[in-house]
Amino acid sequence: MNKTYSVIGVGNIARAFLSALSGLSGKFAVPNSTVTLYNRTEAKISDLKKAGYNTVCTPYDAAMAGDIIFLGVKPQNLKEIFSILRDGGADLSGKLIISPCAGVTCEDLARLSGCSAVIRIMPNTPMQIGRGVTEICRSASVSDKDYQYICRVFSMCGEVITVSEEEMNAMTAATSSAVALVYRLICAFADGAKQYGATNAQVESAVAKTFIGAAEMLMSSDKSADELVAAVRSPKGATEQALLVFDEKNIDGIIAEAIKACADRCAELGSEYGA
Ligand SMILES: NC(=O)c1ccc[n+]([C@@H]2O[C@H](COP(=O)([O-])OP(=O)(O)OC[C@H]3O[C@@H](n4cnc5c(N)ncnc54)[C@H](OP(=O)(O)O)[C@@H]3O)[C@@H](O)[C@H]2O)c1
Repeated sequence: MNKTYSVIGVGNIARAFLSALSGLSGKFAVPNSTVTLYNRTEAKISDLKKAGYNTVCTPYDAAMAGDIIFLGVKPQNLKEIFSILRDGGADLSGKLIISPCAGVTCEDLARLSGCSAVIRIMPNTPMQIGRGVTEICRSASVSDKDYQYICRVFSMCGEVITVSEEEMNAMTAATSSAVALVYRLICAFADGAKQYGATNAQVESAVAKTFIGAAEMLMSSDKSADELVAAVRSPKGATEQALLVFDEKNIDGIIAEAIKACADRCAELGSEYGA
């Protein structure tokens, strides 16, 4: 699929996208020379220039260079970018836009950009090590062929899950922002162990490996998470005491509240920066 690419805003997520593109091979291969990059701070992409990517000095030049435009900026930066493109007379119709911007809908992106073909993605940072989860949805103008191709690109950095646009904000909370919540939980488990006597240097990595092992066991098991909890919890045993504290403090309710706060903020970002 001999398409050219542009990336506007080359931070963490855009770099993971570039790694995914460079992982494609055979008839899907995307040479670095067919990818044009623009970043506000040019010095931060000098390594990519050395690696053979085209770099340009304006978002306009980037947008005009590629058939597929990846928006690697924050939602707060979208209006500024699109106003520069509009003022320059950029015609984006016929292109495809990919956006990871939280909360901003396909419809808003189409209106702001003048490009009706929009794919929204919600990746997470483990995509940087090929273990990400990316939710994806599209506007009606995106062809099946283009959509499947972009799903293939993101599958280079982990799982790709098609969702409805209505689900995006909740899934952003549960799989994208959730990465930070999981890190907090890992720290809290390790700190708790330290408070009650653990002194070895591997506490944090042991806890992290416990999260990985528990998650991988759930994925490879035909049992539900609740059934696996029951398998560890023995009546009047030690695990039961810990679970009773979770119940007493309503940990499920606390996490549901955190998910709601995050999903609500996504909706606000969409209203503030997509309108
Ligand atoms: N990080 C995550 O876990 C995550 C997960 C899912 C989705 N997302 C979404 O992905 C997007 C990018 O996030 P990120 O974590 O990659 O952010 P990031 O690392 O902060 O990268 C943002 C990049 O945009 C550049 N930029 C800012 N304003 C610009 C402008 N006007 N023109 C061109 N470039 C501009 C910044 O340039 P400078 O070098 O000048 O700062 C920076 O390189 C966001 O919309 C975010 O909501 C992030």
